[in-house]
Amino acid sequence: MGNLIILGSQWGDEGKGKLVDLLAEQFDFIVRFQGGHNAGHTLVTGGQKTILSLIPSGILHEHVQCLIGNGVVLSLSALFQEAQMLIARGVPVFDRLRVSPLCPLILDSHVALDLAREKAQGANAIGTTGRGIGPAYEDKIARRAVRVADLFHRERFAAKLGEILDYHNFILQRYFQAPPIDFQRVLESNLDLGERLKPLVADVTGILEKLSIDGRNVLFEGAQGAMLDVDLGTYPYVTSSTTTAGGAAAGTGIGPRRLHEVLGIVKAYATRVGAGPFPTELFDEFGEHLSRVGREFGSVTGRRRRCGWFDAVALRRSVVHSSCSALCVTKLDVLDGLDTIRICVGYRIDGRVSGTPPLLAGDFAECTAVYEDAAGWKEPTAGITRYEDLPPNARSYLERLQALVGVPITIISTGSDRNQTIVRHSPFA
Ligand code: GDP
Ligand code: IMO
Ligand code: MG
Repeated sequence: MGNLIILGSQWGDEGKGKLVDLLAEQFDFIVRFQGGHNAGHTLVTGGQKTILSLIPSGILHEHVQCLIGNGVVLSLSALFQEAQMLIARGVPVFDRLRVSPLCPLILDSHVALDLAREKAQGANAIGTTGRGIGPAYEDKIARRAVRVADLFHRERFAAKLGEILDYHNFILQRYFQAPPIDFQRVLESNLDLGERLKPLVADVTGILEKLSIDGRNVLFEGAQGAMLDVDLGTYPYVTSSTTTAGGAAAGTGIGPRRLHEVLGIVKAYATRVGAGPFPTELFDEFGEHLSRVGREFGSVTGRRRRCGWFDAVALRRSVVHSSCSALCVTKLDVLDGLDTIRICVGYRIDGRVSGTPPLLAGDFAECTAVYEDAAGWKEPTAGITRYEDLPPNARSYLERLQALVGVPITIISTGSDRNQTIVRHSPFA
């Protein structure tokens, strides 16, 4: 076998959590490498739903060790809240979880800055999750972040925190006319939680290096999606991390030759939360169908997700960004009962049709989708676990997507439960 990266290949919420949980059977270790608690990964096992934001989606498995790599921005309060929820359900989180000392911390002031900035932007707001993700990454790049390791040197932590809060409070009060954040409260809460975190802190890169030498298998769990990548997505309507495959190396400290396969997760249609270009967005009864049947409401914020047809143009690009070796198509069952299903095969820009997306979000917004129609199916696909049992038109639809994107579809999800899955080829077959 080898190491596998699982990524969102659209705008997030493709069903990464379900797939990580399902494939966890085959892995010894699962590691998150970017993002923070802006993610919301849903697992359903035997009808029981678990939503994870920060803790890797393999945590329910007894044999799996979960790691949080240096690329993740960490809110200690979110981490312990999530751990508490799992412990209450009998999951021994602290036996199974290790955290890199290099993770930058998300502070209350990052959250306040995120919210103040979004409010000030008014109609131009990005529609962030309000979790402080962007401001925390800004501080990391600006080399002033406080990181997990700093928590274990009280004086040093207090001094660094004092500087960063002075700066944040200056912007909050003077620029945004927002209330300041209390230093003492942030200091004490982080130091308290830091003491609880201490036994979990470990050299994640060192662990991964040893695993590689021992021939153990690691799954790298992406958050968000390719089109939300800070460099390659629909900037500025993106998140603040590298959501494409390269992030797995940088966010764990392991080199790219240790990453063997890349499984891109896509919905059988498309959704997006927050603002930004979305050429296949629907405002009609089909959009209503996808929203209602697909229950397209954010798992973290509860916000309504925008819905649209499958976009093969954007997907081809995100497959390039992550060198996807295979695709998993989720939520096929949501299309059950539609007479016709549309697939975006080109973008019309200034009267010309292009097969590649524009590089700039401004130009993206000018595109109209060019569609090809596929025949729908009446028979339910929900819960089907064998490819041969799918209605012929559902198979034709999947085969057309595969041909358009040029990457094999090896897994198909037909329901939210772990078992409602067709595995045509295991990622390592
Ligand atoms: P993630 O962020 O990529 O892990 O995805 P989310 O958990 O935010 O959103 C995916 C939603 O779709 C969750 O509510 C899942 O339970 C659900 N889901 C996943 N796969 C399927 C599927 O094949 N069919 C249906 N109907 N729901 C699914
Ligand atoms: P998972 O891992 C969908 C979106 C937000 C917003 C933009 C920036 O569950 O797929 P941020 O708070 O990151 O600064 O917000 O990114 N966004 C997501 N959309 N799924 C996610 O995560 C997302 N995480 C962030 O809606 O448009
Ligand atoms: Mg999600």
